[in-house]
Amino acid sequence: MIVSVNTIDHQGRDNVSAPARVLVTGGAGYVGSHVCHALAGQGLVPVTFDHLGNGHRDAEKWGPLRVGDIQDPIALAQAFAEFSPVAVIHCAALAYVGESVTTPAAYYRNNVTGTLSLLDAMAGAGVKHVVFSSSCATYGIPEQIPIPEAARQQPINPYGRTKLMVEQILSDYGAAYGVNSAVLRYFNAAGADPGNGIGERHDPETHLIPRAILAATRQIPWLEVFGDDYDTPDGTCQRDYIHVSDLAQGHVLALKHLLAGRGSLTLNLGTGRPISVREIVAAVEAVSRRRVPLRFCSRRPGDPPVLYADPSNARNILGFSAAFTAIEDIVETAWRFHVQMQECATPHFGSLGGAKELKCH
Ligand SMILES: NC(=O)c1ccc[n+]([C@@H]2O[C@H](COP(=O)([O-])OP(=O)(O)OC[C@H]3O[C@@H](n4cnc5c(N)ncnc54)[C@H](O)[C@@H]3O)[C@@H](O)[C@H]2O)c1
Repeated sequence: MIVSVNTIDHQGRDNVSAPARVLVTGGAGYVGSHVCHALAGQGLVPVTFDHLGNGHRDAEKWGPLRVGDIQDPIALAQAFAEFSPVAVIHCAALAYVGESVTTPAAYYRNNVTGTLSLLDAMAGAGVKHVVFSSSCATYGIPEQIPIPEAARQQPINPYGRTKLMVEQILSDYGAAYGVNSAVLRYFNAAGADPGNGIGERHDPETHLIPRAILAATRQIPWLEVFGDDYDTPDGTCQRDYIHVSDLAQGHVLALKHLLAGRGSLTLNLGTGRPISVREIVAAVEAVSRRRVPLRFCSRRPGDPPVLYADPSNARNILGFSAAFTAIEDIVETAWRFHVQMQECATPHFGSLGGAKELKCH
């Protein structure tokens, strides 16, 4: 893999070898910050491009941050000109399913139009490689379990549709303009890297593990469980939780694949193990040694009972496998990050965990 490039130093000397830079859109967010850490672990310099709408300035520790919107062509062109990245990892997106239903215009504009302006900026800078954060939401209600990449994609909300549209755009740009893309369809990113002070800090928090932790610590009164009468072993929905650091390693492998000239690819990134809501609750209770108060509600429309990846292509093509295999270990990292955030950011900590800056790091 390219880990250094010839460049011009600040005194104008040619051919100075410097670590290669990778532009990470959304690098100040949850997944993006872990991707930046993983890139730095490979000797690459992550350049974060993020408008900080949902990200955190302090999540950026491994390279420069440029505050900008992917819908702003001038800001993008400046970042490409300043850093000459060899590739882009495109994590920036609005990613709340419910919000996408009530404000689809913002989702199509940000996620689809924003990606088009990013691709234009890449073309202007001669950058041909992009790793894209797609989602299992593109599958909608799956017809097959576990879900292979070839499964029919029928997203059931605007968020999932924006991701599918970008997948299709990337495919067309590959055929017409030679853009090489690695489309990574994440399942449920979970856990944190508390040793490096990064983790999940969304506001509002909608993901199950952080919400279960907030319920365990009484920062919300209870955890809503949407349906306990599904045809699953304990009646609650099952999902595929992949540790966010494993997910980040998947990006590094996909990037290596692209930079080695092996061509575009589309892969699921999941563990292939279904975990139920009750199993998550049990893990949070075990790790936190607190009870998680539950409130049982009716099923949410469009929630499939079981959703997990067939991860065999990622294993066979990239050699990818998740290092975190036990859900208790994943939850423990989320818990440790939560405790750390409480200790460091108490005055800034909103009721749903919305601290914008973590003061200890
Ligand atoms: N977290 C998951 O479980 C999950 C699952 C499937 C797919 N994804 C995808 O992975 C990506 C990252 O998700 P996340 O959970 O880290 O979300 P996040 O909200 O924590 O991170 C997204 C980042 O993108 C930035 N951003 C959004 N729009 C931008 C714009 N127009 N210009 C510049 N920056 C912008 C935000 O400020 C934020 O820092 C998203 O594309 C999401 O759709 C996430």
